[in-house]
Amino acid sequence: MTYLASRLRPMRLRVRILLALVLALPACDGPQSALAPAGHEAERIANLFWWMAGGAAILWVSVVGIAVYAIRVRPERHEAPIAKLLIIGGGAVLPTSVLAVLVTYGLWLMPELRSPPQQAADIDIEISGEQWWWRVRYFPSQAQTFELANEIRLPLGEPVELRLKSRDVIHSFWVPSLAGKLDMIPGRVNRLVLEPTKTGVFRGACAEYCGTSHAFMAFYAVVMEKEDFVEWIEHQQRRAVPPRESLTARGQRIFLENGCGACHAIRGTDADGVVGPDLTHVGSRLSLAAGTLPNETDAFERWIALTKVVKPGVQMPHFGMLPEEEILALAAYLESLE
Ligand code: CUA
Repeated sequence: MTYLASRLRPMRLRVRILLALVLALPACDGPQSALAPAGHEAERIANLFWWMAGGAAILWVSVVGIAVYAIRVRPERHEAPIAKLLIIGGGAVLPTSVLAVLVTYGLWLMPELRSPPQQAADIDIEISGEQWWWRVRYFPSQAQTFELANEIRLPLGEPVELRLKSRDVIHSFWVPSLAGKLDMIPGRVNRLVLEPTKTGVFRGACAEYCGTSHAFMAFYAVVMEKEDFVEWIEHQQRRAVPPRESLTARGQRIFLENGCGACHAIRGTDADGVVGPDLTHVGSRLSLAAGTLPNETDAFERWIALTKVVKPGVQMPHFGMLPEEEILALAAYLESLE
């Protein structure tokens, strides 16, 4: 029994390791993976990772190989010159050369990762970290500036410079598929260049603990073909569409009467608050509450009525005291702002 158990234990361990590797594999892909790069900088970082992983594998195999050789293959006492060769070769020469190659490669990559673009797109974007959402301002050179939240859109193949700031605490801006992370520090402007190489929707997250709802501070980066991007910019500059149905018109009245406009702006209405996200085109965004809820009428209702349940510690007060039909009208109005 003891013999059988001793034979089974290592096998189970091997099966477990294999299972863990198989389960970990899908994590290498997806919209938020540094190993599925869709940007110039992310590609370089992924390459660096594979070089590092390769180097680590060479070191591990060599060290374990030498240990196995010494313990199993020739456990007897070694001649002094062979022992010296093993110790100096395996203990000093091999790790030093592998590490030297990796350090040189890393240092060679670094300046290019942080240098400003030679040919930047004619647009720049300012992103400010807030507790716990992302204020995004676009400054197109030929057109008027506009603001949105929790979403950035980028043209394919063009380097765009982001200016990263923070109003309250340190946040960290990270879209693993597009580039490395960079801190957003109050009183400072950090610059990050994104140069997407694939179209698609990529998820970003705050990578620095910034308070209670740090885990609910996500956003989406959408990479579009140039023509679609230009169209999107034009659309974002427009004012909000006036309500067309009685339900959405009622929603707009409720929005303005309950003081929502003190914190939120909806361009084209009297709402011009600057504390919370600009809601001019909130219905067209991919998520609500910084990647916390899907952008649907039901989710708007849930967010308005149970704000602090959905996102603990958030500054926005909840409006659960409003009658249910008023919350529905508000949700329908906001969802109609495409
Ligand atoms: Cu913002 Cu963590």
